[in-house]
Amino acid sequence: ISLKSHNTFGIDVKAKFFIEINGLAQLQKVLKLKAYPQKLIVSGGSNMLLTKDIEALVMHINLKGIDVSDENEDEVVIKVMAGENWHELVLWSLDQGYGGLENLSLIPGNTGTAPIQNIGAYGVELKDTFVNCTAMEIATGELVEFDKKSCEFGYRDSIFKNEAKGKYIITSVNLKLTKSNHQISTGYGAIEDELKRNGIVYPTVKDVSNAVIAIRQSKLPDPKELGNSGSFFKNPVVSKKTFEKLKKAHPEAPSYEVDKNQFKIPAGWLIEQCGFKGKRFGDAGVHEKQALVLVNYGNATGSEILELAQLIHQEVDRKFKIRIHPEVNIIK
Ligand code: EPU
Repeated sequence: ISLKSHNTFGIDVKAKFFIEINGLAQLQKVLKLKAYPQKLIVSGGSNMLLTKDIEALVMHINLKGIDVSDENEDEVVIKVMAGENWHELVLWSLDQGYGGLENLSLIPGNTGTAPIQNIGAYGVELKDTFVNCTAMEIATGELVEFDKKSCEFGYRDSIFKNEAKGKYIITSVNLKLTKSNHQISTGYGAIEDELKRNGIVYPTVKDVSNAVIAIRQSKLPDPKELGNSGSFFKNPVVSKKTFEKLKKAHPEAPSYEVDKNQFKIPAGWLIEQCGFKGKRFGDAGVHEKQALVLVNYGNATGSEILELAQLIHQEVDRKFKIRIHPEVNIIK
């Protein structure tokens, strides 16, 4: 079958063997099938670039369900199954009056993959509400729990991108949300500006969510209209020395201080400076409003997108002596 509708880049590759996983017992059984030694796990398909037809058994994780697993007057812990769409979860939580996920509105993908890259936006990361997750070990079919510490969360990073890579399938995630005294985080200028524009002085969590949705819609392409995988690259973290050199040559360069000796530079800015913003090479292109996002205008192949990414990497390295790396999982 074609995997075009299973990846937000809309890349048309074929899978020889495809199965939809609707329950834990079924997942365990399928993992034991000796006939398919190679497996590719697909969930929301929003952070992957497929570059060729897939010989492995493609397992589409479609585990559903949201339950309150613990609560008191002020807080609630919810257990969310891996196949629940992330943004629908955010909207559901806001409908219940729960706070904590509002800054992460409109992020594509499903809940089970959110911990893998510790999704983050507008000053908040998944780890801020994360309690623990349950994952099935691919080799044994056993369920294992990962608490927050053992997930080793970092910027767009976790154990699931390192030691545990390819070894587990996250089946559910527990998140702790607020029922009262919501911590509104508008530290990030963009949200404040958007709220001000709408005359909102005392924002509710729903107001913050609406602001984030408006900002994202104004610069990020909707994968339903234009294939993409959000930020293609991570923002590079550079040393103080590199940062100072950059600032000397480009005083206008935006940056965030990570700590005294490390600075994060928006890759979108670096890419734009290299002249790529809005450029199109066949059906592969760089988004016109956010240079960090690569787009598929229709029939681009994964290899064409990858070639464009490599060209961008080269040019940024040549111009700034800074290396940028994909945050998207490239399936070769
Ligand atoms: N910028 C440019 N040109 C561009 C894009 C950005 O000059 O084409 C400049 C902006 O003017 C601004 C700075 O770069 O000064 C930062 O831009 P923005 O606020 O759009 O955020 P970002 O650093 O480009 C990151 C995340 C996004 C997240 C936003 C908001 C990464 C890799 N990306 O982007 O995440 O939504 O911050 O918090 O960290 C995603 O992961 O898919 C994603 C969209």
